[in-house]
Amino acid sequence: MTVADTPLGLKLARQAGWNQIETDWRRFLALQPDGCFVGELDGASVATTAAFTFGPVAWLAMVLVDIDSRRRGVATALLKHALDFLDRQGVRTVRLDATAAGQPVYEKLGFVPEYPLTRYMGTATPWRGRPALASRGHPGLALPNLDVSTPLERQGQDVRATEEPASRPSALTLPPSTHSQWDAVVAFDERVTATPRGKMLARLFEESPELTQVLCRDGQVTGYVTGRRGAHATLIGPCIADDDAGPDLLQYALARCAGQPVFLDIPQDNAPATALAQASGLTAQRHFMRMCRGEQIHDHVESIWASSGAEKG
Ligand SMILES: CC(C)(COP(=O)(O)OP(=O)(O)OC[C@H]1O[C@@H](n2cnc3c(N)ncnc32)[C@H](O)[C@@H]1OP(=O)(O)O)[C@@H](O)C(=O)NCCC(=O)NCCS
Repeated sequence: MTVADTPLGLKLARQAGWNQIETDWRRFLALQPDGCFVGELDGASVATTAAFTFGPVAWLAMVLVDIDSRRRGVATALLKHALDFLDRQGVRTVRLDATAAGQPVYEKLGFVPEYPLTRYMGTATPWRGRPALASRGHPGLALPNLDVSTPLERQGQDVRATEEPASRPSALTLPPSTHSQWDAVVAFDERVTATPRGKMLARLFEESPELTQVLCRDGQVTGYVTGRRGAHATLIGPCIADDDAGPDLLQYALARCAGQPVFLDIPQDNAPATALAQASGLTAQRHFMRMCRGEQIHDHVESIWASSGAEKG
């Protein structure tokens, strides 16, 4: 696949009702120019997939087959091709988030279920009584509200322990790939996801600085959130954070998207993130199954407040 094939990718994404826009296809092609493939049937381009590697871990994404060409083995053939490519790169693990339609196809290729995620959707509403994180001083520098208690706590909902952190978080200016804390952000993400995703995060942060926030405490990164615009909604995520930073970061992102449709993909085992999404008026739209082929990855779902979206983990 090349940039010239992005109209095909967009057509298939629209057909399936997916959220990706041209920027997403360009990002996939930039992340792994030799890992995006077009599937042909009888000489016509009818399918796509994008595979990309993060060190020993790979992700498979954008498995889309034209509606008129399904159930003829196109996805299976294309996936085998992409898996051969990834095996040649020497990856030890391939992961993906499967739709209900995709899961049986992946199982036949040796993928096993890891854990389910739920997509929450709705109109983002800022919390009443919680001032939006103010932009001051430097354009693009978002400083967090220094009141770190969450609105849920103020409303008396037992979402999480309400202990005041020892010291208050402070924000970073972005884009951070040149920032002294950038390496710490990537290391923090890797501790949670067990995947070195720096090249993807740099791109996401730089594409959407207005949706990106990093929190630190005592000089240590405690979490970050970013997001991206889509055809149907702004996808908030990834949001990777400890227990204190997670609620603030999700609320920061929801406030930045106030009045707009949003998606949030949350591991079902992250109960506080689920409660926060539900208390924000978002509703479950669909489910995905995170699947893995090869060595299992031990990520920490309690710190995954929102994943990067079904196509990125
Ligand atoms: C999921 C999707 C990619 C599958 O594509 P596909 O090309 O139809 O998949 P395949 O043909 O390889 O396999 C699908 C089924 O067709 C069967 N099949 C394969 N070749 C066949 C043939 N020649 N005749 C009849 N059936 C065939 C497969 O055994 C499989 O059966 P199953 O559903 O009982 O497991 C496609 O439905 C799609 O694009 N869906 C929307 C987007 C989506 O959900 N993508 C997955 C993201 S995780």
